[in-house]
Parts: sequence; C-alpha cells; structure tokens
Amino acid sequence: MNSVIRTVHRWTSLVFSLAVASIFAGMAITTLPEWFYYLPLPPLFVLIPTGIYMFFLPYLGGQRNAVPASKGSAL
Ligand code: HEM
Repeated sequence: MNSVIRTVHRWTSLVFSLAVASIFAGMAITTLPEWFYYLPLPPLFVLIPTGIYMFFLPYLGGQRNAVPASKGSAL
C-alpha cells in the first residue's frame, strides 16, 4: 500500500513537471489558450494528498523500523 502511494507520487511528479515545462516551452513559442495554464493542477491534486500521506507515514506507527526524517538516523 505504502509503496503504491509512493510510486503514484513519483510518476505523478513526472507528469506534473512535464506539464509545467510544457507551459514555459509553449509560452516561448506562441500564445497559449487559457486552459493550458491549468494543466498542472490535476497532477498537483494527486501529489498533495499522496505527499501529505507520505509525510505523516513515519509518525503513524505500524512500521517498527520507521524513523521520522526530523530524527534522522544518518549519524
Ligand atoms: C504538493 C505537495 C507535496 C507534498 C506534501 C509532498 C511530500 C512528499 C513526501 C513527504 C515525500 C517522501 C519523502 C521521504 O521519503 O522522506 C515525497 C517524495 C517525493 N516527492 Fe513529493 N510532495 C509534494 C509534491 C511534489 C512535487 C510537486 C514533486 C515533483 C514535481 C514531488 C516529487 C517527489 C518525488 C520524486 C519523491 C520521491 C518519491 C520516491 O520515493 O520515489 N513531490 N514528497
């Protein structure tokens, strides 16, 4: 389940980035129709809930070895 959410977030971020990039590229070439500027919104509305879910994952318990990023284990 968690890995599905993470994979959805990862691939949606790619779609989101391409939508934003295509707006900048399009603006350099021509005048874009107004709806074109709204293209990043659908993927953004997927990124927000999946991202917030992943943010709180370490605090929700369940995963015994989970370490919140704020208490990093790098040292
Ligand atoms: C808009 C609200 C967003 C929230 C709240 C959010 C939150 C998060 C969180 C909490 C993680 C997990 C970090 C970790 O593992 O410690 C994550 C991973 C990631 N986020 Fe977001 N994110 C958002 C939007 C975006 C956007 C706009 C992009 C890129 C265009 C993006 C790309 C990624 C990628 C590539 C990962 C790594 C996923 C993986 O493990 O493969 N996120 N995000």
